[in-house]
Amino acid sequence: MAHILVLNGPNLNLLGTREPEIYGSTTLADIESRCADRARDLGLELESQQSNSEGALVDAIQAARERCQGIIINPGAYTHTSIAIFDALAACDLPVVEVHLSNIHRREDFRHSSYVSKVAEGVICGFGADGYEMAVDALARILAQGGQA
Ligand code: DQA
Repeated sequence: MAHILVLNGPNLNLLGTREPEIYGSTTLADIESRCADRARDLGLELESQQSNSEGALVDAIQAARERCQGIIINPGAYTHTSIAIFDALAACDLPVVEVHLSNIHRREDFRHSSYVSKVAEGVICGFGADGYEMAVDALARILAQGGQA
């Protein structure tokens, strides 16, 4: 059974109470449990992790390299700044689906660029919490096709 990692970056532990007008009122625990249900329906095994620290996210990506077949990642603000996360994803050589709750292209200019997009098979943004389940669907399709979009 394919094993996938859902990885969330800084401040996403606050979902539910963090700027709900932008990020919605669904908690991270709810998102993780919806993803796990969806993954189970699709015959995938899913684990979820969140960290506020860039180094811990790099460690999680490196560990996924050993035991996962794909990664869904919302790197939070590190999306726009982190070459270390870009490098870790490039090195792990797994299919990556990038997710953002908000439509980053409709927001401040500094959110318009993403290092992670350069190593992602695709990006889902602007659909709130639903975007994570869309990402599970997308990754399932990618894995069924042999690992590439
Ligand atoms: C975010 C968008 C980022 O710009 C922001 O820093 C976040 C959340 C999103 O899910 O919409 O923390 O990744």
